[in-house]
Amino acid sequence: MFKVPPVPASRLPALLRAMPKAELHIHIEGSLEPELIFALAQRNGVPLPYASVEELRRAYAFTNLQSFLDIYYAGASVLLHEQDFYDMARAYLARAVADHVAHAEIFFDPQTHTARGVPIETVINGLHRACEDARTELGISATLILCFLRHLSEESAFETLEQAQPLLDKIVGVGLDSSEVGHPPEKFARVFARCRELGLHLVAHAGEEGPPAYIWSALDVLKVERIDHGVQAVHDALLMQRLAQDRIALTVCPLSNQKLQVFPNLADHNLGKLLDAGLAATVNSDDPAYFGGYINENFTQVFAATGLTARNAYQLAWNSFEASFASSADKRNWEHQLKEVFERCYEHDD
Ligand code: ADE
Ligand code: ZN
Repeated sequence: MFKVPPVPASRLPALLRAMPKAELHIHIEGSLEPELIFALAQRNGVPLPYASVEELRRAYAFTNLQSFLDIYYAGASVLLHEQDFYDMARAYLARAVADHVAHAEIFFDPQTHTARGVPIETVINGLHRACEDARTELGISATLILCFLRHLSEESAFETLEQAQPLLDKIVGVGLDSSEVGHPPEKFARVFARCRELGLHLVAHAGEEGPPAYIWSALDVLKVERIDHGVQAVHDALLMQRLAQDRIALTVCPLSNQKLQVFPNLADHNLGKLLDAGLAATVNSDDPAYFGGYINENFTQVFAATGLTARNAYQLAWNSFEASFASSADKRNWEHQLKEVFERCYEHDD
């Protein structure tokens, strides 16, 4: 890998913002800004229990994952038509381009919508069309990952997979999200085995609030290729070795961890520890509309709070491309662009 010389601290935020990156952990329903929630509520005649955008924003004071999920699922209730899903994804993709995201792998939660009577094809077709249009109109590469809600049953996950079956060419993989503690990965062993047979990529949230044991079972039972969050891995030395040796990427979300009180003080975040242990960590926004920032805000705030360096920045961006489910040719191309941005940064040295 490119040997990264030091960069003065004053120049680091600009470099973090300008470097090309992939975003591998973004829930599209978590990109729904309060303004868009209100606009869609009005367009669709959906009543909201908040009088204004400001009142809704004031409700974003979370104490843990569940306190967030309750509000997040309520926010998604304004999404009814294909155009709503399109508009939501298009807004995210435009925002991602501004943050120099070259490639995004976007999570969506079909059960949140099918439970309200919205057909799964409405969800997938709207999101997929937004990804296709963004590729040609905005120059960003974007793919979709269908997430099963782990607080629901195995049967519901299987039913969702069956509904999605005719649309599988529009998604690259499946994930597992929602309330973690009390819903271990094993609950979905058979669903993930079936998805594997179907040739889908596999990821799962594990070790966000839950114990290292959930990360072990996501790897060994579900056979996932990446772990979403995974920050609790530091409590298990053997697990850290396994993650490093197998180059299992962790999609870390610093501002989410701060807002959901995993690390109430961003200065205590363990991203640096994960990198120092040789893990393939990446930086992502999770639910940017709820946690106070898109991907560049996550980079700049965690770097400022924990004193990470330009070398760490290069490693994180490189990891994000390497851990993506994009083609090898695309990965090499983005990694080349990353190196060029860093080289240009040194050309301007005084
Ligand atoms: N769904 C949206 N954001 C999530 C998170 N941080 N953890 C689990 N499920 C989620
Ligand atoms: Zn998440």
